[in-house]
Amino acid sequence: MNILFIGDIVGKPGRHVAAGLVSGLKDRYRIDYTIANGENSAGGYGITPEIAGALMDIGVDCITTGNHIWEHKDIIPYLSESTAVIRPMNLSPMAPGRGFAVIARPGAPPLAVVNLIGRVFMAPADCPFHASHGVLAQLARDVPDVKHFLVDFHAEATSEKLALGWFLDGRVTAVLGTHTHVQTSDEVVLPQGTAYITDAGMTGVVDGVLGMDREQILARFTTSVQKHAEVAKGKEELQGVVVTAGDDGRAVSITRIKEHA
Ligand SMILES: [Fe+2]
Ligand SMILES: [Fe+2]
Repeated sequence: MNILFIGDIVGKPGRHVAAGLVSGLKDRYRIDYTIANGENSAGGYGITPEIAGALMDIGVDCITTGNHIWEHKDIIPYLSESTAVIRPMNLSPMAPGRGFAVIARPGAPPLAVVNLIGRVFMAPADCPFHASHGVLAQLARDVPDVKHFLVDFHAEATSEKLALGWFLDGRVTAVLGTHTHVQTSDEVVLPQGTAYITDAGMTGVVDGVLGMDREQILARFTTSVQKHAEVAKGKEELQGVVVTAGDDGRAVSITRIKEHA
């Protein structure tokens, strides 16, 4: 199984570069499933049902999210109705939506996608380590034929991400970090067969600050005035990884992707 995972898509430029590159990447790497983190896809903050639909139209099979999931309120009913967009599962048990999805397409084994969020330098959340064991036990009970599991761990601290990678080594196909928007060069297949990267990176304008307008972000730092910045304009890039796994669900390779439009 070949899985394309696209790092945080930021605003219209992120959607634009993804729309231009996803189909070619799918052909080149013979991709079975495409997963994208869409938590910044609507103007840099959150996601809307329309944008989720547009990402599905360009070939994304499942959209993971993160701390910006609640930004646009019209996503809340959508989260309950659709399995296309998932939110971090270790939020309140009463949070709308789902923290995982099982996706399947003809000719490929099914894939379970799990979204977790970190607790270090992040808003309060339940323990992601404990939550991961809970969801894996639930999936083993409910869908025992599923052998492939992809975890998007949306977290700030490299230590917390790496710790979850080791914690889940041999239990899932991949633990892929998101949220920092900076692609790390530590991609590895851990000894028990889990593909890992601390951060898959960002899909959007690379000469801003994390995909946002650099002058406005600079003003936030230099003046202390906190307000939402706008999405940057400029050179667009798609960043992510391709994970290849055997029929047993163990990863055999992880390849970083960093492509210009
Ligand atoms: Fe993000
Ligand atoms: Fe985030």
